[in-house]
Amino acid sequence: MQLTSVLTTIGLLAAEVAAHGAVTSYVIAGKTYQGYNGFAPSSTPVIQRQWPDYNPTLSASDSKIRCNGGTSAALSAQVKPGDSIQAIWQQWTHSQGPVMVWMYRCSGDFSSCDGSGTNWFKIDQSGFSGDGVNVFLDSETPSGWGIAKLVGGNKGFTSTIPNLAPGNYLIRHELIALHQANAPQWYAECAQLQVTGSGTALPSGSYLTSIPGYAKQSDSNISFNINNHSLPQKYTMPGPPVFRG
Ligand SMILES: *[C@@H]1O[C@H](CO)[C@@H](O)[C@H](O)[C@H]1NC(C)=O
Ligand SMILES: *[C@@H]1O[C@H](CO)[C@@H](O)[C@H](O)[C@H]1NC(C)=O
Repeated sequence: MQLTSVLTTIGLLAAEVAAHGAVTSYVIAGKTYQGYNGFAPSSTPVIQRQWPDYNPTLSASDSKIRCNGGTSAALSAQVKPGDSIQAIWQQWTHSQGPVMVWMYRCSGDFSSCDGSGTNWFKIDQSGFSGDGVNVFLDSETPSGWGIAKLVGGNKGFTSTIPNLAPGNYLIRHELIALHQANAPQWYAECAQLQVTGSGTALPSGSYLTSIPGYAKQSDSNISFNINNHSLPQKYTMPGPPVFRG
């Protein structure tokens, strides 16, 4: 084999192993907002927290799982309870894994809102609905997983803003790519939302958790042999229940 073809093969293998991708835009109440593109930074300010790369985060305790390392954005989008928010991934490769959508209430300005503490709650999620007969946990096509909705590129995941009290919030779209046995990969990006309107709800108690912290690497819904069809072909979502407002 020539060196170039060896390198090409290695490149293809690497692409095969890691899914690589990020939320690249949002459609909020019908209006499109560009996200950040870490490899071709635009001078245009965006609502998304700017991430350094779209490599997977490999550990449940790595602080990069919070917002893929993103800490600030120049803009925010206004939303009100009942509005739809669609996150769009320019490309996505593998079908296996859950999608979770989280929010976090900032105590003040976005510039000082770092997503720390036990303040995160879920507003939406999509797990596994395969039957273990024709559609197993590791089936690529047809897939029973929420993440499969994104495969092929320019696909979105749409959620509804719950009846939340007005304020500044982060919204976090998280994919846990599970296609490699016992080697979960996290992909998560955050954007800044200013919730307006007259909502009153503030999630508390069992709806709230910290990120990182909502799951352990050793949890059986985080690290498991996805290729073992002798295991029960079902999936329990990690983290707290979804807050519907
Ligand atoms: C698959 O799961 C079954 C049931 O837990 C277990 O007995 C078996 O050892 C596993 N096989 C592999 C290859 O992990
Ligand atoms: C799933 O993960 C959560 C932690 O987020 C854990 O409490 C729960 O026991 C796990 N469920 C299973 C079936 O492993």
